[in-house]
Amino acid sequence: MTKFIKFYQKKWHYRLITLLNDDLISDDEKTEIETHALNHELGDQITENYIADFTLPEGIAFNYLVDGKKMTVPMVTEEPSVIAANNNGAKIIATAGGFTTKIESRLMIGQVILENIDDADNVINQINEHQLDLIKIANTARPSLVKRGGGARWVRVRKLAADLISVDLAIDVQEAMGANSVNTMMEAVGETLQTQFKQDVLMSILSNYATDSLVESSCSIPFTLLDSAGISGEHIAKKIVSASRLAQLDPYRAVTHNKGIMNGIDAVLIALGNDWRAVEAGAHAYASKDGQYRGLTKWSIVSDNLVGIIKLPMPIGVVGGSIDIVPMVKINKKMMGIKSAKELASLVASVGLAQNLAALKALVSEGIQKGHMGLQLKSLAVKVGAVDEEVAQLTELLKNENRPDTEVATKKLNELRKKGDN
Ligand code: MEV
Repeated sequence: MTKFIKFYQKKWHYRLITLLNDDLISDDEKTEIETHALNHELGDQITENYIADFTLPEGIAFNYLVDGKKMTVPMVTEEPSVIAANNNGAKIIATAGGFTTKIESRLMIGQVILENIDDADNVINQINEHQLDLIKIANTARPSLVKRGGGARWVRVRKLAADLISVDLAIDVQEAMGANSVNTMMEAVGETLQTQFKQDVLMSILSNYATDSLVESSCSIPFTLLDSAGISGEHIAKKIVSASRLAQLDPYRAVTHNKGIMNGIDAVLIALGNDWRAVEAGAHAYASKDGQYRGLTKWSIVSDNLVGIIKLPMPIGVVGGSIDIVPMVKINKKMMGIKSAKELASLVASVGLAQNLAALKALVSEGIQKGHMGLQLKSLAVKVGAVDEEVAQLTELLKNENRPDTEVATKKLNELRKKGDN
């Protein structure tokens, strides 16, 4: 273990040697890791104890029409069929006229928590009287943000218990995700509350429950666009409405419903170098805002149309963090032609709605496995060692098997190769 002390101080190459000497990796694995370290100087700047770049597949969804703008959407995901399903959902919605989005505000919330309070009402009054001073202190801590047009906008005080108070500040972080700005500003406010207001500060930190960065995306799809596999679009639309009701009523289903939505949302956020854990955490909290965990989308029927809507917090950014550093993120951002954080937030919410439409449509018609199976069999073929054209050949053979697993796939691959030798 002693060898790992100051691992971060070692040069990249020596970190790998340390792992090798400690028998954690073999020579071959060291060579393999080296091929995955695309730019170790850059990696060292982004994370600590860097050894390599962990790659995930990136694909493209082409069918986006958001507020009248056509968009190409890079998605990073390891899950087969997420992108195919997404493309499918987005295409139906684009044919129906696209997504319409709405953003009322884009503010991040920061908290300073005060504890050991004797007279909560008195402290709340005192803070309320000094709201403008606190805003000024926050803004002085981040002058560059203020110069760019951002800054603290309002203060709110919440009594969490007789002895515990949260002082919330809403911050306009402009085009960034803004975590650093908010944390710096909240620490400055915390310092003042401690020294000048003589309060006991427990912590100062942003909140990922971004209730003042809500985004809404909606669509309206004529029944005729939902016809599929011999089932009428009207029938499918009604079943989707039932599926939507189910996700409002049953948390067991709601979690899976929302997981499917996040399949799409996370894939875009990763491609755009955003903090997808922050969006995940906020989305799930918002899904339980009325005390029960519910689906983040709602589908209903209006005349002969299926109408869908998604609403969730979207604390994302288009500058800052690794966004302006990681080469693929820079390319993805350019490819999408994203101009502002609001535009990205609108798109990401729309991706969630398209993903949900595709999942629900499959679930209430042919089932999810049919669509998944082709890609899963392809992964199985690769897993057992199929290469080049063998992958397609083996995938076809496995489609005829009742229970295609590793054993069956290995056997079939051997047969295929023997046949090829003869
Ligand atoms: C699978 O990753 C996602 C789905 O389960 C979503 C859903 O059930 O709505 C298909």
